[in-house]
Amino acid sequence: MIYDYIIIGAGIAGLNAARLLPKNKRVLILCKMSTWNSNTFWAQGGIASAVDKSDIPTHIKDTLEAGANYNNLEAVELLSSESIPTIKEIIEAGMIFDKNVDGNLAYTKEAAHSRNRILHAQGDATGREIHLFLLEHCPHEIVTQAVVCDLLIQDDICYGVQYFSSEYEQKVAFAHNTIIASGGVGSLYKYHTNSTANAGEIHGIIAEKNISLKDMEMTQFHPTVLKGTSFARKPLLSEALRGEGAFIVDENNKRFLFDYHPSGELAPRDIVSRAIFDYNKKTGLGIFLSFKNFEKKAFKQRFPNIYENIKDLGYELPFENVPISPAFHYCMGGIEVALNGLVKNFKNLYAIGEVACNGVHGANRLASNSLLEGLVFSRIAVNKSLEVDFKIDKQNYKKEIKEYIRNKEIDKDIKDDLRRTMWESAGIVRTKKELKDALNKIESYLLLDVGRLLYLRLLTAKTILKASLQREKSLGAHFIKED
Ligand code: SIN
Repeated sequence: MIYDYIIIGAGIAGLNAARLLPKNKRVLILCKMSTWNSNTFWAQGGIASAVDKSDIPTHIKDTLEAGANYNNLEAVELLSSESIPTIKEIIEAGMIFDKNVDGNLAYTKEAAHSRNRILHAQGDATGREIHLFLLEHCPHEIVTQAVVCDLLIQDDICYGVQYFSSEYEQKVAFAHNTIIASGGVGSLYKYHTNSTANAGEIHGIIAEKNISLKDMEMTQFHPTVLKGTSFARKPLLSEALRGEGAFIVDENNKRFLFDYHPSGELAPRDIVSRAIFDYNKKTGLGIFLSFKNFEKKAFKQRFPNIYENIKDLGYELPFENVPISPAFHYCMGGIEVALNGLVKNFKNLYAIGEVACNGVHGANRLASNSLLEGLVFSRIAVNKSLEVDFKIDKQNYKKEIKEYIRNKEIDKDIKDDLRRTMWESAGIVRTKKELKDALNKIESYLLLDVGRLLYLRLLTAKTILKASLQREKSLGAHFIKED
């Protein structure tokens, strides 16, 4: 059997693509872990959108400024102009965003936005609400615990995918179109805000096949995650908190962000993350988020999930300052795609959402533009694929289907070291020497007989390190210091 579509990933981009594909298409959605284990589910702050036509130029300007003007202008223009019909469409389909007392959509502000233009749902559970909405409206089959380990690629055609099933069996599925929507690479880092499913294996497959990965050095660190928990995935303290009055202080209650940027806490997030990193290094002082500007009842109402989560971890908001640190958050780089989502030089392989790079985020993504990107570019890719209506001929695929070993005994220690190495060497502030040392280490690991998944992660890490070394001057989120 040949599917019409295989979608790899069940976050916002993959599920929205699935929702928009006609019911009569045979669609297989491969979800690496359980359906809720995705970055979309954890997204708090919201989804950016131009508020109206007059806001489009300003949204574009803010996106470019945050992105250090390294963005692909066409992609940014498309993102912003399509934001209005895209949000309208999903609302008409039943998605509910929070409203003001007057019944109009409530927009909040986040760092580097020059006005309030972030929609949110259930206060601070925007990602979860969109994710649940998309799951409820998904008319196609989702297979969970399906870990993709190869793409069936020959010349400029993708014939389908090879994956490990929940029983660790290897399966092959053929499709006329393959859409990669597998998200980012957070689990390559020791500290991050991502779902554990996001470990960059698909990027590794792409690298292995010499398909272009673009801007992989552009990795974003969220400035405010709660410090001191034992898991790699750190609890996020949304940008929206700062957008609505929270501010950053040292342990002596000194507000130091204005020493780094005239917008203080509301500067683009690469600047805020670096400032925290630098200040802590220089002074040795602990860094905290203060909620002093909030009144308890209003805070609980506006940020119910953050309130409860942080309470469970021992802090009573808004009365207590909470210790924070930056953590890996988002990869601006990814599989090089055209604006219609087609992977460069391919006829029927698409990439959308965080895994893709069409240049929309430039060197540093503007807060809350990622959920929007997922919706806008999934819609465009679906329309393009329906229009092209490409059909594979399965008989033409002549390559051998390889047998992979998913994990091996030696993987565990290497995996831990990989995450430590990436955090220390390809983090907020980089040096050439550390990058080179890390690259040498990763290359030596690649010579070992490791499991398939770790091998792919190592390839992705190598791509990030190589790209970081190639960009010798700092730009946006990529900050390189003299050795
Ligand atoms: C947040 O709520 O701070 C995350 C928003 C984003 O990454 O765009």
